[in-house]
Amino acid sequence: MTSRDCNAWHTPVLLEETIEALAVREDGLYLDMTCGGGGHSAEILMQLGEKGRLYAADRDATSVRICEERLFALKATGQFRTVVAPFSALTRWLPEEDRGKVNGLLADLGVSSHQLDNAERGFSYIHDGPLDMRMDQSQEETAEKLIASLTQDELTCVFRTYGEEQYAARIARAIVLARREAPIRTTGRLAEIVAHAVPPKARRGGHPARRVFQAVRMAVNHEYDELSKLLETIPYIMASGGRVVIISFHSIDDRMVKQAMRRWEHPCECPTDLPCVCGKKPLGRAVKRQSIVAGEREKVNNPRSRSARLRAFVFEEVII
Ligand SMILES: C[S@@+](CC[C@H](N)C(=O)[O-])C[C@H]1O[C@@H](n2cnc3c(N)ncnc32)[C@H](O)[C@@H]1O
Repeated sequence: MTSRDCNAWHTPVLLEETIEALAVREDGLYLDMTCGGGGHSAEILMQLGEKGRLYAADRDATSVRICEERLFALKATGQFRTVVAPFSALTRWLPEEDRGKVNGLLADLGVSSHQLDNAERGFSYIHDGPLDMRMDQSQEETAEKLIASLTQDELTCVFRTYGEEQYAARIARAIVLARREAPIRTTGRLAEIVAHAVPPKARRGGHPARRVFQAVRMAVNHEYDELSKLLETIPYIMASGGRVVIISFHSIDDRMVKQAMRRWEHPCECPTDLPCVCGKKPLGRAVKRQSIVAGEREKVNNPRSRSARLRAFVFEEVII
């Protein structure tokens, strides 16, 4: 059986491109920071020889359980370990002896189909459900609490910053008016309020609530801070020759990844017309200048891949 046979749960995007960019070594140590349903993890595990090891992590405990079952079905050899943790906890759970030894790290950002398509998880503007959006269901703050507690200005700021939403101010105003009538408890009601708040022309480019849902999800799960923390930590755990692959689904994440990779490649901040005094040396290089996107066939077969952008970096210098 190949790992592709059990992908009904969540079809991993850019799978071949990811494996190629990671250049998986049989005896390597790999970290899948967003194992989700285990699509990418399973493929990495299949490439590993007896000495190779994989950590499959995700902050969503349900996903990790499913991923674990899937990996056990492939290799019951103790070659992998699953971890329920957010990016920001990486240095708390990664054993000391593995730091500086990671040959490949993958982060396939955003939400999985399982999270998105399960109405109960409250991520979807298409399927009505409780306004939840927590990736980690043990977390206290939900989308409902966020929508109920932020001021109009704060809502505007969230929609603008994390959703790049053009009609942020009018949507925030509509929400504040609506919640005076009754608490906003479902994804359906939030989507409806947004749809009524924007002008008809805003309904042409996909669902009008798409950006607001992205923004609320990012705020509830502190996605910006989480990704910043991961990008900060990565150079301290990679081995020389180690590869990092990050797949983003919207421009905010992709910009952060691109900027981090540029910093890793050109860490010196000294004025270009003066000699360098900081002594910071390049840590490596981007595998490709441009991001890698899905081919036409994948875009048709897996619509989620349409907005995916993969960036890869190879570390040549090690910090610790
Ligand atoms: C696109 S899915 C990954 C799918 C996976 N690659 C697969 O093939 O099944 C993204 C996953 O990242 C997880 N995630 C997002 N942000 C996270 C964070 N800060 N820490 C840990 N997991 C995170 C989500 O819970 C979700 O399961």
